Amino acid sequence: MEFKQVIKDRYSCKKYSDRQVEKEKITAILEAGRLAPTAKNLQEQHIYVVQSAELLAKIDEATPCRYGAPTVLVVAFDKNNVFTYPGDKRNSGVEDATIVATHMILAAADEGVDSCWLNYFDPEVVAKKIRLAGK
Ligand SMILES: Cc1cc2nc3c(=O)[nH]c(=O)nc-3n(C[C@H](O)[C@H](O)[C@H](O)COP(=O)(O)O)c2cc1C
Repeated sequence: MEFKQVIKDRYSCKKYSDRQVEKEKITAILEAGRLAPTAKNLQEQHIYVVQSAELLAKIDEATPCRYGAPTVLVVAFDKNNVFTYPGDKRNSGVEDATIVATHMILAAADEGVDSCWLNYFDPEVVAKKIRLAGK
């Protein structure tokens, strides 16, 4: 799709069909996240593709905002592999992950896949529920 049209078409979907997203589309979306810029090119993002009924139910325990989506991409990063700003008070983990997520949301729109950014959950709770690395 033409880029301006992608930007225009993207919207936050709050009701999904239960038809699973095609594997090729998931791959294209993940590839857009892989190609996103990260500070110092550290590429510390980890994207978890949640599709099993068991783990989707765990997501539903953590947030009311899945809205029936059959795929949830959980965007995380390796906190031991981030750029630390001069001054040692901030690091680039969340901003890199945000850029990655934005690439993926726009790629999803380009693939004709609706999405919604979610932050209405406790990250620690989600990490434990879906057993992210180190949790
Ligand atoms: C950082 C961020 C967090 C968001 N968190 C949620 C959320 O937890 N639940 C939800 O339903 N929508 C969430 N949204 C979607 C916004 O409500 C939505 O983007 C906004 O209302 C504009 O609508 P549009 O995306 O359709 O243009 C979030 C959006 C952003 C950018």
